[in-house]
Amino acid sequence: MYSRITGTGSYLPDKILTNQDLERMVDTSDEWIRTRTGITQRHIAAKDQVASDLALYASQNAMKAAGVTSKDIDLIIVATTTPDMVFPSTACILQNKLGVENCPAFDVQAVCSGFVYALATADMFVSSGKCRNALVVGTEIYSKLLDWNDRSTCVLFGDGAGAVVLSQSENPGILSTHLHASGDYCNVLSVPGSISGGKVEGNPYVNMEGSVVFKFAVKVLEEVVQEAIAKNNLQATDIDWLIPHQANIRIIQSTAKKLGIPMDKVVVAVDKHGNTSAASIPLALDIAVRDGRIQSDQLVLLEGVGGGFTWGAVLLRW
Ligand code: UT7
Repeated sequence: MYSRITGTGSYLPDKILTNQDLERMVDTSDEWIRTRTGITQRHIAAKDQVASDLALYASQNAMKAAGVTSKDIDLIIVATTTPDMVFPSTACILQNKLGVENCPAFDVQAVCSGFVYALATADMFVSSGKCRNALVVGTEIYSKLLDWNDRSTCVLFGDGAGAVVLSQSENPGILSTHLHASGDYCNVLSVPGSISGGKVEGNPYVNMEGSVVFKFAVKVLEEVVQEAIAKNNLQATDIDWLIPHQANIRIIQSTAKKLGIPMDKVVVAVDKHGNTSAASIPLALDIAVRDGRIQSDQLVLLEGVGGGFTWGAVLLRW
């Protein structure tokens, strides 16, 4: 028994915040943002939207593409760093909004690697026969975690959601999953604040040592892709599509160059979305599926790195 992605979907909030808009908010420039990150714009959720709202649209699109209804879903995993509330989980709130009855539903917190972690977890449920159709979602409203006076972080992130339906299949599907974490780096990229005694304690905004993250990301992303292709007796040149976490075009280009994968085999969405954390990989995947780039039987490699640090990859045959 294997698991296979049978449908993808995504959702982006209507409001677009351009680099020019940011020039009017902080001491930055379109030129700095574009050359250092590749980002030209990002989407920002409405004040009354929560992560499960974005997840709902993305999930409905994925379920439609997979040809399943809420009756067919028997597992929901949501990867998010920006849950609707402390509890219940965003997965349970999404379950209610979708009208899915009595199935396991839980959140995964691995920041920007969250979708890779969630997909690897769902694969274990589906390929072992415990579930038939898992809904796996990455959804984020990062705009809530940004200090809009801090130019070193507020220009980098955006809001959005992506989802897949992972179904039982006699043919693979997911070929292998590779997850890693190193808590030694937990202070390098964090939102240290918490709620205690009815108050926020500590800094509730994204705090990042950008260049440390950058160097670590390029190193471990190359390593984890090599691990995935070695496990499957493949070469990097066998990969048809690399779908990286969309944080910075320079990280994406450096990783692809180290691997010897040409950029025309790499799906890039960071220019239009910014870094949408756990949503970025399923968003990019959905774009490349819907515009027809990803074709049946092709080899697709998803990879990401995020706070923790966490990192990982999923290799699959489409
Ligand atoms: O999803 C996983 C989590 N995040 C990431 O993967 C992000 C990883 N890191 C990065 O993408 C990059 O490190 C950044 C885009 C965050 C920064 O790029 P950098 O080339 O590493 O720049 P830097 O941090 O070394 O800063 C260079 C300069 C500094 O000025 P000085 O000290 O050289 O005078 C910053 O103050 O750029 C300045 N700067 C800005 N200038 C204009 C920082 N942010 C801005 C800004 N506009 N928005």
